[in-house]
Amino acid sequence: MSLILGLETSCDETAAAVVRDGRWVLSNVIATQNDLHARYGGVVPEIASRAHIERISPVIDEALQQAGLGWQDLGAIAVGNRPGLIGSLLVGLSTAKAIAWALGKPLIGVDHVRAHLYAAHLAPQPPRAPGVSPAVPPADQPSIPLPDAPAYPALGLVVSGGHTSLYALDHPLHARLLGKTIDDAVGEAYDKVAVILQLPYPGGPNLDKLARTGNPKAYDLPRSLLSEDSLDFSYSGLKTAMLYLVRGKPVGRGKEAHFERSASDLTDQQRRDLAASFQAAAVRTILQKLDRAIDQLAAQGQRVQSVIVGGGVSANSHLREMSQAWAQKRGVRAFLPGMAYCMDNAAMIAGLAHVQLQAGDIATLDLPAIATTAM
Ligand code: KG4
Ligand code: ZN
Repeated sequence: MSLILGLETSCDETAAAVVRDGRWVLSNVIATQNDLHARYGGVVPEIASRAHIERISPVIDEALQQAGLGWQDLGAIAVGNRPGLIGSLLVGLSTAKAIAWALGKPLIGVDHVRAHLYAAHLAPQPPRAPGVSPAVPPADQPSIPLPDAPAYPALGLVVSGGHTSLYALDHPLHARLLGKTIDDAVGEAYDKVAVILQLPYPGGPNLDKLARTGNPKAYDLPRSLLSEDSLDFSYSGLKTAMLYLVRGKPVGRGKEAHFERSASDLTDQQRRDLAASFQAAAVRTILQKLDRAIDQLAAQGQRVQSVIVGGGVSANSHLREMSQAWAQKRGVRAFLPGMAYCMDNAAMIAGLAHVQLQAGDIATLDLPAIATTAM
């Protein structure tokens, strides 16, 4: 049995979690910094790293307490050390190193994007029967079945604020990049369109909520599929189309340039319909790319067993619904993370770390923080 403490501080969530055997989440504590960044309309890196320093210790204490475990119960310490905001990453990384060194336990460095792709493997630890200690794996308790894990080879899709990428996976640790966004990530497009529509921060979830009340066919928006066989994504055209629909074409040049109108000139119904039409276009592109990827992998002789989705936008209600319907039609199984594991969290870090530990992928105390992605 492995009990791993995971830490995640790559952006604006300070998170700690304990995961058993890579699947069962014993605790998943997330201190969000939304309130600190809301007035700036986006994450301010300096504020984020300072808040991580203040919050990381209480968040870890809470994670251990909720799991019902002490330091000595832990088998390893995992940390998301790449990619992310460098000042933020360093807080989690230094903390993880200090704990691993003090306890004499293995340190495991985890890639944040890969961890998003692993989040669909996680399941919350069901309540224990009275008198059963946390040391008894829930799968060994007769009444609790282990949820299905995705079968491999799989097609992986990461949709977040920083990434929109497709991968061929033959194992959680072996991912081959098939395509990625050439401009904005889909979460970034959601956030920017939310600003255009004057929705409150954080934009993505608020836009999702508004879109549910509108007509997705009201506006015909561009869907950039790029060249015929491309598995890359592009969201800047869709975002610009939304900007012009809401604010009109820019008038004047240089410093004199301004827009004809703003979102305050829209009726409530127009705002809902614009949100719904944007959401429909954004999600439809994703499903078309999944289709293409499966066809291309099949042509290369690789039959995809599952489609695994991860990242903040996997919390999107329309994407969740449409991807399940699409998967049923295509005859594959779609695995999306539980809602608690879509956005940045440390359970996905501790979960994937278990797989890395089994593969002998243990870090030394000179493990670096890396801002950019290698995937
Ligand atoms: O994975 P994540 O927490 O952070 C990154 O690694 O980027 O993803 C955050 C992104 C943000 O762009 C946020 O607006 C988007 O996920 N997001 C959503 C929803 N919930 C979060 N986008 C659309 N619909 C949602 N329900
Ligand atoms: Zn993320």
